[in-house]
Amino acid sequence: MFICAHERPADATRECCAAKGSLELMKAIKTAAKVEGIANIRVQKSGCLSNCENGVSCVVYPEGVWYTLTGEENIPYLMEHLRTGTVAKHLLMHPEA
Ligand code: FES
Repeated sequence: MFICAHERPADATRECCAAKGSLELMKAIKTAAKVEGIANIRVQKSGCLSNCENGVSCVVYPEGVWYTLTGEENIPYLMEHLRTGTVAKHLLMHPEA
């Protein structure tokens, strides 16, 4: 699982996931996965995933499922995905056309 932690200067024209708390959220997800004993998963911060306006950007492989994360309230759904493969449909990213 990759979570974008890219940071841009405050005066940048594009948004960035770091400004939406992605690094803190990534750490919380990592901790949750460890606490729940979910094996064979690596939660990793990434650079810009090119979906800045749809972030916090998260992608889960090998499925290639993209999520827009909004906060720690997402974590139970992400854990369910990691445990069972059940996609959290309400968190799916809907890239702007
Ligand atoms: S800054 Fe997160 S996808 Fe670009």
